[in-house]
Amino acid sequence: MTVRNAVESDYPAIARIQYRCPEAAQWPAGDYSNFRVLVAVANGTLFGFCAWRQSMDDEAELLNLGVDPDHRKRGVASALLTALEAAAKGTIYLEVAETNAPAITAYHKMGWESIGVRRGYYSNGTVAAVVMRHTSRGT
Ligand SMILES: CC(C)(COP(=O)(O)OP(=O)(O)OC[C@H]1O[C@@H](n2cnc3c(N)ncnc32)[C@H](O)[C@@H]1OP(=O)(O)O)[C@@H](O)C(=O)NCCC(=O)NCCS
Repeated sequence: MTVRNAVESDYPAIARIQYRCPEAAQWPAGDYSNFRVLVAVANGTLFGFCAWRQSMDDEAELLNLGVDPDHRKRGVASALLTALEAAAKGTIYLEVAETNAPAITAYHKMGWESIGVRRGYYSNGTVAAVVMRHTSRGT
């Protein structure tokens, strides 16, 4: 499996995976062109994606992440997060629903720490977001 930057022809496959990941933010496919996107690919098939932005010189945000349900628990998200950590400069932040235990576990395993809670962030104010951050070893 390799992780590379997405190109426009990846968008339909990203949209298909996103659709199969109700926990991920559901963006119109065109929105991906506004951000940096990494994709995990094996044998020509896209297994997962993450969208992010470098919001300041020393601060980045992970905006969306999804792995094809048929290819989970095989290290796809870990590979995407490792590539994100290499590509982003400074501290990376994200928000994740407090109900999304698989994602929170994956982030913790990859060295992210929980730094706060935003009450009523998702689902019409009924679900809180956990704010997490990853600080690279070099900063
Ligand atoms: C969360 C998600 C991205 C994980 O992707 P993945 O490729 O299966 O993750 P990995 O295989 O790299 O797993 C890394 C670690 O995460 C944890 N993890 C992954 N899936 C898990 C699950 N279902 N339950 C508990 N822990 C889980 C484990 O600690 C795992 O390490 P291990 O396999 O050594 O035990 C995937 O489940 C997904 O796409 N979910 C829907 C979309 C989503 O929630 N996006 C995040 C929005 S903020």
